[in-house]
Amino acid sequence: MAKPKTKPAKTKTKAAPVAAPLASAPSAPNIDIGISGGERKKIADGLSRFLADSYTLYLKTHNFHWNITGAMFNSLHTMFETQYTEQWTALDEIAERIRALGFNAPGSYREFVSLTSIPEEPGLSDSADWREMVRQLVVGNEAVCRTARKVLDIADDADDAPTEDLLTQRLQTHEKYAWMLRSLLQ
Ligand SMILES: [Fe+2]
Repeated sequence: MAKPKTKPAKTKTKAAPVAAPLASAPSAPNIDIGISGGERKKIADGLSRFLADSYTLYLKTHNFHWNITGAMFNSLHTMFETQYTEQWTALDEIAERIRALGFNAPGSYREFVSLTSIPEEPGLSDSADWREMVRQLVVGNEAVCRTARKVLDIADDADDAPTEDLLTQRLQTHEKYAWMLRSLLQ
């Protein structure tokens, strides 16, 4: 005759420790970096417009890298790649500066379209000449420069050296790109 199975003895489980009440957790202190809230907002708004311009130009440069055709294919395909790769890295620095100033960075196509000063030119035909692509990139790089200068003025008024430094570096790059691209058409 088989032995009746014995049920394993129930062990009492310890109650999980109760988490400390949320109210006792320290809250984030207000931002106090020596720039007033109003000035931080003005700079962040300007940087948001600059980010939108930079993103739009980045996308246009990548678009032309994909769609370039013709005798200039090899050199322009490579040149556009160098430029959009550099621009892509810079987008992150611009957005993170906005965050450091205490505001959210725009991050959707809808926001970028409404904030940018660079018109999108969709539907370049198959026969679009490489010169038209280069012309659009000259104009786009110069538009980024104009926006950078306006925001640089706002940052300068607030003694916001990190934003001035960031925008100065972007100006150097985009003025150089505008020169290199324009040289192709001369
Ligand atoms: Fe590629």
